[in-house]
Amino acid sequence: MTEKVNSLNKKDTSWSGRFNEPVAELVKIYTASIGFDYRLAAYDIQGSIAHAHMLSEQSIISKQDFVAIENGLQEIAQEIEAGNFEWLLDLEDVHLNIEKRLTDKIGDAGKRLHTGRSRNDQVATDVRLWLRATTDQVIAGLQKLQSSLLDLAEQHYDTVMPGFTHLQVAQPVTFGHHLMAYYEMLKRDAARFVDCRKRINRLPLGAAALAGTSYPIDREMVAKTLGFDGVCENSLDAVSDRDFAIEFTFASSLVMTHLSRLSEELILWSSPRFAFIDIADRFCTGSSIMPQKKNPDVPELVRGKTGRVYGHLTALLTLMKGQPLAYNKDNQEDKEPLFDTADTLLVTLEIYADMMRGITVNKENMRQAASEGFATATDLADYLVKKGMPFRDAHEVVALAVRHAVDQKVDLSELPLATLQKFAADITDDVYAVLTLEGSLQSRNHIGGTAPVQVKAAIARAKKEMS
Ligand code: ARG
Repeated sequence: MTEKVNSLNKKDTSWSGRFNEPVAELVKIYTASIGFDYRLAAYDIQGSIAHAHMLSEQSIISKQDFVAIENGLQEIAQEIEAGNFEWLLDLEDVHLNIEKRLTDKIGDAGKRLHTGRSRNDQVATDVRLWLRATTDQVIAGLQKLQSSLLDLAEQHYDTVMPGFTHLQVAQPVTFGHHLMAYYEMLKRDAARFVDCRKRINRLPLGAAALAGTSYPIDREMVAKTLGFDGVCENSLDAVSDRDFAIEFTFASSLVMTHLSRLSEELILWSSPRFAFIDIADRFCTGSSIMPQKKNPDVPELVRGKTGRVYGHLTALLTLMKGQPLAYNKDNQEDKEPLFDTADTLLVTLEIYADMMRGITVNKENMRQAASEGFATATDLADYLVKKGMPFRDAHEVVALAVRHAVDQKVDLSELPLATLQKFAADITDDVYAVLTLEGSLQSRNHIGGTAPVQVKAAIARAKKEMS
């Protein structure tokens, strides 16, 4: 993009009247935002047409001027779309670039567009329009990933795997249940974006530079034209706060947190030490030196890019914290972190949804791992409780039995009945039913539990929510 930004090399800015010397070349580069805010162009034009229409409806400009402005801006939109628009560094930002081109095209009418408006309320409007559209894309991306998780969970609603705490085998769960945990996280993430969108969707235009404007504007009309739910109700707040961008970046950070956790698991599970899953080759790369390697690059990068998005959140929070009201040029620094957050999140969601469809599960290895770490010890304790033993005593009895089994290098279910009875005389033959993986799973049969029937029901509820 920067290569496309050219220099006019002459004093030709729209605010240079009061200055005695031109801005230093390096300062021009330092202060310009056109290198990144060109991305707002379509929204800038949309906002300008709505503003100009209101100006003409309110007889602040003539109908004729409005028609010229609208046609001119539409032509400019096409030039930009076709890649025929020359962005000039001397014109600082997207707003001045478009306005100058409009004036070159249509003369004085173009100069009237900025009546009752400032770049301060203009840029806040553009960013909100852009972010609203982006939020909708994020919500759609989340939904796509949720449904890909659901499909995988459905295939594995009863596939046994070890559930972990402290990364130690804890209790058996189903792989479907594990995946549904992420479905829940993403569901809350989507709800956060839906909520955040409400606060994004307010119109700053009309706030002008900071205090409002002396023209008889109709802000509600502009809000309606642009699809905003209403206007920002304080002009100082409208031009200065970027909390909506921070919220978006926070919600994005949480999605990345969730995906980083899942990535960490995919990395572990696909390592030959676990060998629980296989990630499709198209999401992995090899090593240039070790021929046996298949590296889970995508999950690793998701984990890495999570740090990048957190960085943007910190940048935006820090950007805001010391600013006195109202607009300060600091706010120009909101765009790159925001754009990069959105770009990173959107592509991550897209790739992830596809990657989850490319996962194959090694059921045997998962099952084997679940049967190795005394995953049903709690079930034995619960069994004793049901026979009348207080839970704390049962816990102690099972701990001793596990110690014995460790010494014998066998699983609890492999201890003979006579041996088990040495630990608790109440134990009878029916104990083996609870010591099996299936028995353990099936016994957790309540909403939120890992019993396969419950996982199936959770998937069915989720499918209904998504439809
Ligand atoms: N490029 C500026 C930004 O992104 C537009 C607003 C400039 N306003 C000003 N008073 N200099 O914030």
